[in-house]
This record gives sequence, structure tokens and C-alpha cells, in this order.
Amino acid sequence: RSGNYVVAIDGPAASGKSTLARKLASRLGLLMVNSGAIYRAITWEIVRENINPEDSDAVISALEKIDIETGRNGGVSTIRINGVQPGDELRSEVVNSNVSAVSAIPKVREKVVQLLRDHLEHSSLVMEGRDIATIVFPDTPYKIYITAAEHVRAARRHKVGEVDSVKRRDAADSGRKTAPLKVADGAEILDTSDHTIESGVDAAIEILKRQGLDIH
Ligand code: CDP
Ligand code: CDP
Repeated sequence: RSGNYVVAIDGPAASGKSTLARKLASRLGLLMVNSGAIYRAITWEIVRENINPEDSDAVISALEKIDIETGRNGGVSTIRINGVQPGDELRSEVVNSNVSAVSAIPKVREKVVQLLRDHLEHSSLVMEGRDIATIVFPDTPYKIYITAAEHVRAARRHKVGEVDSVKRRDAADSGRKTAPLKVADGAEILDTSDHTIESGVDAAIEILKRQGLDIH
């Protein structure tokens, strides 16, 4: 356990966090954890239970009864909500448009942060999200803030047919009181606007080497 470490990747929507995290994790032999999937799964359950995502008291009392279980499948972490593993629903329009409201609630964040930290008991991690280097694992030396021009990010979502207001979600995630999206102290910024997926991974590996990670 003491030898376990975390590569923290944060950034706005469609900046390339999941793609990079997956490739780094497989290259380094680490578990990839997509923290946004947990916020999305909670949002999906809240909507399914017909609770207003803007009503924080109602969300908090529902959350007390929701059973969240994390696991792993190969190199990727998995989540079950009340025994069910959500699928494509996590990328649906209703989740995209409500996840920022649910994840702005401090009690929701408290619960998710604890679940995220528990992953380190079992293995070293590449974890991606919004507050991984600022709040979840602030002591890790390996921190990348990944970004891309707004029109590039919107085009990436559009290309896969996803209905998502990237701009609105980023404004909410950056403007909230608790754990807003920002560049952590010590994080290096990686702009992927002009990167291919492969050249982005290479650039990330150079950053991690500069930060002292032993990669061959
Ligand atoms: O992949 P994409 O950038 O579209 O989003 P995501 O990483 O799946 O995260 C979905 C939403 O969850 C974000 O818009 C945030 O509101 C929230 N989130 C968060 O608050 N903190 C995190 N560490 C990760 C996600
Ligand atoms: O996790 P996040 O929302 O930050 O982004 P992603 O899901 O990893 O990437 C969003 C989309 O951009 C995906 O369709 C990737 O294939 C694409 N992408 C790209 O075109 N060029 C890159 N350098 C990185 C990602």
C-alpha cells in the first residue's frame, strides 16, 4: 500500500482526460479511475428516482439510501449503483445537463472523494476528473491539467453525436464554491488542441518524467 502512487489528470469537458488516462494506465500497468463516472452514476439514479437534481436536500436524503459499489474490470474501475452497472445512460443528455448541479453539492462530493481515495488501498492509479490534484490527492507529485480550445472540445463531442453543452458545464464546474475546476499547484498544463491522441500521450509522458516518475 505505502508504495502506491497516483497520476492525477484534471481538465474541462472533452479535453481528452479519459483517453489519456486509459492509455497511460495501460502503458504504466495502473488502474484507470474515471471519477466523473461516479458523479454521472449518482445523477442517473437521482433522475431515475424522479428527484429534482437542483433540490440539494432531496438529493442528499436520496443519497443516504443509494448503495454505491466500485470494482475493477481489467485495468479500468467499474461502478454499481444499487446493484446495477449503468452503461451508455451515463453519457445521455439528461445526465450531461444535470451532473454539474448534483456534483456541486458538498455532501455528494464528500462521499465520492472518500470512494475515490479508497482505490489507492489496492493499487497505483491514473485518476481523472476535476479536483483530483487539488482535493482528492493533493500530495501526489504527478499532476497534469489537460485542456483544449473550446471549439475543439465542442467539436469532439459533436463528432460522436453526443448532446452536451460543454460550455455550460465548464462554467458551472469552474464557478462552484466547493472544489472548482482549476489548475493545481505544481500541475503542468497540456493543451491537446493540436495533438493527435498518440502525440498527446507522448507529451504527457514527458511531463510525468519531468515530475520525477520513473518511466522507461
Ligand atoms: O468526460 P467529461 O469531461 O464530459 O465529464 P466527466 O469527467 O464524466 O464529468 C462529468 C461531471 O462530473 C463534470 O461536468 C463535473 O460536474 C463532475 N465531476 C466533478 O465534479 N469532479 C470530478 N472529479 C469529476 C467530475
Ligand atoms: O474525458 P474527456 O471528456 O476529457 O475527453 P475524452 O472522452 O478522452 O475525449 C473526447 C473526444 O476527443 C474523444 O472522442 C477523443 O477520441 C477525442 N480526442 C481527440 O480527438 N484528440 C485528442 N488529442 C484527445 C481526444
